[in-house]
Amino acid sequence: MQAAATPPDSTEGTDAYRPIHAASLADPEGFWLNAAAALDWETAPSRAFDPEAGAYGRWFPDATLNACHNAVDRHVAMGRGEQAAILYDSPVTGTKRTISYAALRDEVATLAGILSLLGVEKGDRVVIYMPMIPEALFGMLACARLGAVHSVVFGGFAANELAIRITDAAPKVVLAASCGIEPSRIVPYKPLLDAAIAASPHKPEACLILQRPQAEAGLVEGRDRDWAETVARAKAAGISADCVPVAATDPLYILYTSGTTGKPKGVVRDTGGYCVALSWSMPNLYDVKPGEVYFCASDIGWVVGHSYIVYAPLLHGCTTVLYEGKPVGTPDAGALWRVAVEYGVACLFTAPTALRAIKKDDPRAELVASYDLSGFRSLFLAGERADPDSVAWAERALDRPVIDHWWQTETGWAIAGNPVGVGMLPVKHGSACVPMPGYDLAVLDEAGKPLPPDTMGTIALRLPLPPGCLPTLWGSDERFRQSYLTTYPGWYDTSDAGIVDADGYVTVLGRTDDIINVAGHRLSTGGMEAVLAAHPDVAECAVIGIRDALKGEQPCGFVVLKSGVSRDTAEIERELVASIRERIGPVAAFKLALTVARLPKTRSGKILRGTMKKIADGEAWTTPPTIDDAAVLDEIGESLKGRGIGG
Ligand code: COA
Ligand code: AMP
Repeated sequence: MQAAATPPDSTEGTDAYRPIHAASLADPEGFWLNAAAALDWETAPSRAFDPEAGAYGRWFPDATLNACHNAVDRHVAMGRGEQAAILYDSPVTGTKRTISYAALRDEVATLAGILSLLGVEKGDRVVIYMPMIPEALFGMLACARLGAVHSVVFGGFAANELAIRITDAAPKVVLAASCGIEPSRIVPYKPLLDAAIAASPHKPEACLILQRPQAEAGLVEGRDRDWAETVARAKAAGISADCVPVAATDPLYILYTSGTTGKPKGVVRDTGGYCVALSWSMPNLYDVKPGEVYFCASDIGWVVGHSYIVYAPLLHGCTTVLYEGKPVGTPDAGALWRVAVEYGVACLFTAPTALRAIKKDDPRAELVASYDLSGFRSLFLAGERADPDSVAWAERALDRPVIDHWWQTETGWAIAGNPVGVGMLPVKHGSACVPMPGYDLAVLDEAGKPLPPDTMGTIALRLPLPPGCLPTLWGSDERFRQSYLTTYPGWYDTSDAGIVDADGYVTVLGRTDDIINVAGHRLSTGGMEAVLAAHPDVAECAVIGIRDALKGEQPCGFVVLKSGVSRDTAEIERELVASIRERIGPVAAFKLALTVARLPKTRSGKILRGTMKKIADGEAWTTPPTIDDAAVLDEIGESLKGRGIGG
């Protein structure tokens, strides 16, 4: 058993990391070629970076490898066959299952053989619409084995969102489960999948459907196949597929994330750079060794799940915990600690919102104290800024380092964090600590000029981005350039605002665009406005994120009705709430629609969302000089007060 890492109240820190970061910027070739040695390559890279390729250069341009071989097969070959690769723990179904590396290889090889028979080849896309069950991981790895590109869609999205992703990715095959299970209800996935395929102009050739006993689905003749039967037949016939080497620059997956327009962005992840960056992060950022147990309590529908439930732990020869449950209510706020103790977890990664939910139910940390967490070393948080109160609570409760680190779907791994494995730096509550290797970070003013320490601005990353980060958006190099590279030439615009202090610590304070963060889920207010605006009674609308003690933010929609509409406004508001759930999904957590007489605007017609947010959050606000009619802000304040908000 390892001793706990530096105690959380340490202010000693170490300088071990800073020269490493400096070296990654001064000699990226040397740094990343060295990091690449952690992997098995079919053709080893002779160089790390080609500045002439792609939008800003490409990593490992002349190398080939296979991600599934690196995550699975090579560990079996190196003697880890009997080690647990996946520990599936599902309090919502009362199921536990251990899958060894050898068993994982066999399952993945069989499924890859089936996909191959269904016509899936290198470069083809496969959409995966599945909950947190082992077969979802088999599906992702089977795609990687063939060099096919998976695109996992989170279960909390509505059919319309799934349809948008099917249309954009144009998958040959869809892998789906019949249902997901939320603590309060069963979520039948198959009707959503059928509706999405009906709505999309793209029709997948086949769907492989895993029947779960909680809600079995009807199969569409000629298109759908029963997963279990197909796998059983394939095993009996000895069908399997080997790993197909791909270029390091070939896509491993597409993951859709909220964009400002409401049309999601298909973030492309390349294979080689991603595997190298994740492999570097496991020992150096998370301080985890091969053979140890890593528990990321996120969801495979999000980037954190792709990277730290699936690829990073497996690439590093760890055991990954696949937890189909919630931090609270399945059955209680001790759930994550129960899992940590039961499986000997070394490192846990979750979202601050989960910690807040736990703290709310177990404020005195009595459940934490009831578990022997002596083998547990550190807690990492990401998805939103870790609020200092929750971090301090967790530090006291756990007596372990509690580390905030900053991420985006686009980057695939942490932009800034505390490199515990290299040497933990002093923790500053509220800060995500220092940039990770390859990230050359600055805070810029509106003109793109770097700002001095402790001055708020937009956080930008000097190009090139390090390995692991997106090279482009699926099917749209132009949207990639427009979205990220044009605001500040030579830089990637993170669309996050923040400050860097004199010690180089980064504090991320919020988005500069219309993205909001609800319970660690990234959502576009523009997307919600499009749904509200489509209601026949709505003339105009504005959606803002307002402060929420548990979820960080919750969306709130203000609508102005068309003149002449005389229907009951409460009924219209209920319809609006229902329409967001129907079009975007329950994950939007949209519960608050307010009809107002007018929206506050500038004289040029721009809606004053920032001031509305301040009013809703009960913050001090001033009347903007450009406002058209100042009385409207008071009206907004009154209608919020009517719902017990702001004031
Ligand atoms: N499939 C279907 N529905 C889902 C879903 C899924 N995979 N995930 C969430 N939902 C539903 C929920 O059931 C809920 O529905 P409801 O309106 O009928 O209650 C709705 O979407 C909103 O979910 P959420 O915002 O997650 O709230 P919650 O009350 O269910 O749970 C937390 C609150 C804090 C426990 C939960 O949000 C959580 O664990 N968050 C961590 C997020 C995370 O790990 N993010 C990744 C970044 S690291
Ligand atoms: P996603 O792409 O869903 O991972 O969301 C990325 C966004 O979440 C970032 O742009 C930030 O706004 C926010 N975010 C994630 N992690 C942090 C963090 N540690 N601190 C502050 N904001 C964060």
